[in-house]
Amino acid sequence: MDNFQQQLLGYSEDFNARIPEFFPISGRPESRVVEAMKYSVLNGGKRLRPFLLNETGKLFGLNFEETLRPAVSLECLHSYSLIHDDLPAMDNDDLRRGKPTCHKAFDEATAILAGDGLLTYAFEILADNKTQLSEATKIRLISLLANASGAFSGMIAGQMLDLYTERFAEGNADNMIKHIEEMKTGRLIRYACEAGAVLGGADDASTQTLISYSRKIGIAFQIADDILDVEGEQALVGKTLNKDSAQGKQTFVAFYGLDKARQLAQTYIDEAKQLLSDKFGASSLTLQAMADFIINRKY
Ligand code: IPE
Ligand code: IPE
Ligand code: MG
Ligand code: MG
Ligand code: MG
Repeated sequence: MDNFQQQLLGYSEDFNARIPEFFPISGRPESRVVEAMKYSVLNGGKRLRPFLLNETGKLFGLNFEETLRPAVSLECLHSYSLIHDDLPAMDNDDLRRGKPTCHKAFDEATAILAGDGLLTYAFEILADNKTQLSEATKIRLISLLANASGAFSGMIAGQMLDLYTERFAEGNADNMIKHIEEMKTGRLIRYACEAGAVLGGADDASTQTLISYSRKIGIAFQIADDILDVEGEQALVGKTLNKDSAQGKQTFVAFYGLDKARQLAQTYIDEAKQLLSDKFGASSLTLQAMADFIINRKY
């Protein structure tokens, strides 16, 4: 395990230790949905988005506690997107993070509600009094997160296209694929960086650099996900493999083949790292290492 992976693991252990306090189980019959939410958040994700939010905040002097609640909020939203992505009506997946998907561990209706619950809770966490931020900062984060995850140019828009690409893609498939990947995956990764910048009170130039970095690593992240779907090891990836081609998904791998997709991802990563090193120098080394990890990861 290299230095970066150790840092990520250290962060995720601290992060995971704080998750249970966000999901009190009342024991009343309706708490079944909270059990399902907790199951899906706590079941072993990499915590890349919270880590990214925290590392971006650290550039501006913030610490773990100061980024924790926005980071948990983001992971709730991400986990909701995974629960719904796995549903039979969407990608119909049985395995997530190495464990049965939410609808397999519980049932489909509970999984739909658990997703809804996590989506709603993401915003509740931001707005709550326990989140010690100014009203203006809270509203800014809520607005950015709603836009990043939403149906107009956010994650939901990307998921819509992902499901129906064949119908939409005629003519300029490569642009369309880039657009899908930027929205369905890139927007939440971008939000992680923007949120860190907002929390840290970053100036415009720093914020713009972080946005450019996040857009590049966001696309590269999804290309890596698509490559892992083809040549990953199931035990490490923790998801059913070879699903994208079986389901006719339009991905960079389907369009360009593995080698060209890999090259493309590498170019995005090199550009992303250069942006950070030019603007932030050595203080951004962890974020630069994160960019490398995104395409070298095996899980
Ligand atoms: C998987 O995201 C879904 C995509 C957007 C490709 P991650 O690979 O970050 O999943 P977890 O959170 O580590 O399980
Ligand atoms: C999902 O993309 C992106 C989301 C918004 C959840 P995928 O469908 O490729 O993600 P995995 O491979 O199931 O994690
Ligand atoms: Mg999908
Ligand atoms: Mg999927
Ligand atoms: Mg995938």
